[in-house]
Amino acid sequence: MQHKLYTTFAFFKRAIAFSAFVVAGLALAEWSFGLPLFLPGLTLLIFAFALLTFRIVQLIFKFQLDRFHDTNQVESLLWLYSRFTPSVSLPAMRHYAGSPDFLKELVSHFYRYRPQVIVEAGSGVSSVILSELLQAEQSTARHYALDHLEEYANLTKEKVTNPGSEVLYAPLREYQIDGKSWKWYDISVLEGIGQIDLLIIDGPPETIQKLARYPALPLLKDKLSENALIILDDTNRQDEQRIIQRWKEEFGMASKSIYTEKGTVVMGWKGSGIRDF
Ligand SMILES: C[S@@+](CC[C@H](N)C(=O)[O-])C[C@H]1O[C@@H](n2cnc3c(N)ncnc32)[C@H](O)[C@@H]1O
Repeated sequence: MQHKLYTTFAFFKRAIAFSAFVVAGLALAEWSFGLPLFLPGLTLLIFAFALLTFRIVQLIFKFQLDRFHDTNQVESLLWLYSRFTPSVSLPAMRHYAGSPDFLKELVSHFYRYRPQVIVEAGSGVSSVILSELLQAEQSTARHYALDHLEEYANLTKEKVTNPGSEVLYAPLREYQIDGKSWKWYDISVLEGIGQIDLLIIDGPPETIQKLARYPALPLLKDKLSENALIILDDTNRQDEQRIIQRWKEEFGMASKSIYTEKGTVVMGWKGSGIRDF
């Protein structure tokens, strides 16, 4: 790993010895042969050291933040396991999958609002956790997890044992929204599910189009219940921030930010209890 190389003390000792050698060489060249190299060479070296110092300070901050996030993930995972005991092994978390701090927010919001109909855009570990939780706590609830990739839909299906939870393979299709073409899950699979109380937006991936998750609200707004909550993952990303801003302006939503490693935002209709920060 490159950052390990230039944060070691040995690297610094070698860099300083090399620089002293170069400075001496430049001074000698100027003194012996009259070559005007000393000042430009010294300037170059100082510039290189300044860049290195900047990068190291950046890395120190990154390491500290990573350590803080890692601790949060362990604490969140312990919290999750203290709430219920899954009957299946949970899929891997973080990276593409939901992080424990995000999953903890899903579970906390479930306990607080007790939604009856839950829809997830993007299936995975979050779907397995919700399915297990509903089976233990609220077997009358209905839960639908959409996935545009059959491979991942099937992987999630293998772990979902609650009859109230369904993982639905919903390939992306084209929609026209305000005269513009967008891709989103084929929502015909959600026909007749009733009013959605909790909508979790963790897909599709950002690579499918600019503002990839924007269509969720224009397409599903008429299916949301009066007190519906929308929970978005990955809101540290610029695209997600723009989507939230647009939803607020275009559909009169309110939002609340929650600190998690990838960023979490909870949204609801204005006046439904969610306040803008
Ligand atoms: C952000 S993931 C959804 C995560 C899910 N909510 C969870 O908690 O695990 C969005 C989509 O990415 C796809 N996906 C999941 N893991 C992937 C991987 N390792 N590589 C590529 N795509 C992946 C799946 O189709 C998934 O629906």
